[in-house]
Amino acid sequence: MPGPERSLLAPGLGRLASFDYACPVALVGPQPLLNSSPLSVLLSDLREERAASVPFPPGETRLSMARTRRFANEPLPMLLDAYERFGPVFTLRLFHSNVVFMLGPAANHYITVTHASNFLWREGHFRDLIGLMGDGLLTIDGEFHRRSRLIMLPAFHREHIAASVEVIVEETTRALEQFTPGAVVDLYAITRRLALRVAMRALFGLDPDGERARAIDAAGLFEQALAFYASEYVLRVFRGRGSPWARLQAAARKLDTLIYSEIAERRATGRRGQDILSLLLDAHDEDGNTLSDLQIRDEVMTLMFAGHDTTTSTVSFMFYELARHPQIVDRLLAEQDAELAGRRPSASQMVSGELGELELVLEETLRKYPPAWVGPRRAIDAFEFEGHTVPERAFVNYCSWASHHLPDVFAEPEAFRPERFTPEARAALPKGAYVPFGGGSRTCIGMRFGQLEVRTIATVILSRFTFSLPEDFRLEIRQMPTISPKRGLPVIVHPRASAPLADLSAAA
Ligand code: HEM
Repeated sequence: MPGPERSLLAPGLGRLASFDYACPVALVGPQPLLNSSPLSVLLSDLREERAASVPFPPGETRLSMARTRRFANEPLPMLLDAYERFGPVFTLRLFHSNVVFMLGPAANHYITVTHASNFLWREGHFRDLIGLMGDGLLTIDGEFHRRSRLIMLPAFHREHIAASVEVIVEETTRALEQFTPGAVVDLYAITRRLALRVAMRALFGLDPDGERARAIDAAGLFEQALAFYASEYVLRVFRGRGSPWARLQAAARKLDTLIYSEIAERRATGRRGQDILSLLLDAHDEDGNTLSDLQIRDEVMTLMFAGHDTTTSTVSFMFYELARHPQIVDRLLAEQDAELAGRRPSASQMVSGELGELELVLEETLRKYPPAWVGPRRAIDAFEFEGHTVPERAFVNYCSWASHHLPDVFAEPEAFRPERFTPEARAALPKGAYVPFGGGSRTCIGMRFGQLEVRTIATVILSRFTFSLPEDFRLEIRQMPTISPKRGLPVIVHPRASAPLADLSAAA
């Protein structure tokens, strides 16, 4: 079933600008429209840059396609090199525009917490994501963002997400059927499918085995849509047949069919559950206005994307590091034996992160490989930070990935050391040093759900299997726009030597 037509790149939200879940609120204005023509967007960026009232911070500001290409492929070494040369605030010209990067604890805290109201997400460097997600929580700003968050927060409360542990154990147990001892499997591809099934079931009450979901390959379609963000900058401005943009749109339209038909069915039957879709369908403002299908679609698409892509990467990077550190695996298995003693993990263990060794591994994985690695923003007004001026309307990014690799904050940053996150070591970190989930009013809304999901998937996998890496495998990382292993994660499967958790199979 096709949904409402979306005529512009970002249609704005004028039809129903505000809504409320629990208490009446006043209507607020629509989100600004973004121009749909890449050429006029480009020209407007250049005009605004030329009109800047104060200089950009030092850096590499001459046009260079080689730099642009290198940044798309290897942003981390470039950012760390620029930090060495220019300090925590610098400018890189990427494609047509100057982009200011602010690295380190103070910068992260400045952008996400103390001065967050001077920055817009929607007009930042990742604004193309609006083409896939529309106006969901990630891509909106200001009062509309605040109210949208209020609507969705109840769905992420502890007791709500605790109920997902059952689904995650069941889905992971099922996914383990693909693991044959001695065989090589692509853990990244398996986890993407698993995480999408979990997101569909746990967040939206969608049946991944139902007729509608089976008719499309949702994981494949997300892969196809997100490939746009891995394509060459210059190709991203084209809109014609066969362009990365056209492929993104085609995939989004197929995913829309699934979402809109579910909305229609729920509206027609009145069927509701404890899921976010039910929450959105019943949201209303004080005049009884409800959300349009288009608005619900945008939130669902945003959460489906954010809710599976990040956890997929985290699980993959975690098992990549575990395959290289058998002594850490031994500690995790000993912990399972002691804490679970053959029982399946309980919801409270998984919600609270009670398996301490696993928790350290999770935190260190998110330090070294924060999947949402960059926080793209656009400055509203000019400002000063650490002795440099940044003009109004400048693209400004904070970057957890580079900030987590500053040797004066995390010694020997390339080493995988879970003990960095013992309570004492963590307490000694400066404010803003560790930001895998962002911070302030835009802190990841799915943080608890994501942590719980990764913990549960890892616990179930480790109850049965450990992995090693094929000898010729070298990890390369791509950004799409979250970071993930570039060519998947091939692992050799080994059955666990000691007794597996006894009653997991009962859940399958
Ligand atoms: C390991 C898992 C995850 C990581 C590392 C992660 C990371 C992040 C980060 C860094 C941000 C802030 C980006 C910025 O400042 O620009 C963010 C925002 C967001 N995340 Fe996550 N995320 C994870 C899982 C999830 C899950 C499971 C969901 C949904 C179920 C989710 C939904 C969102 C949404 C909707 C936002 C936008 C929040 C807002 O602007 O109010 N994330 N995430």
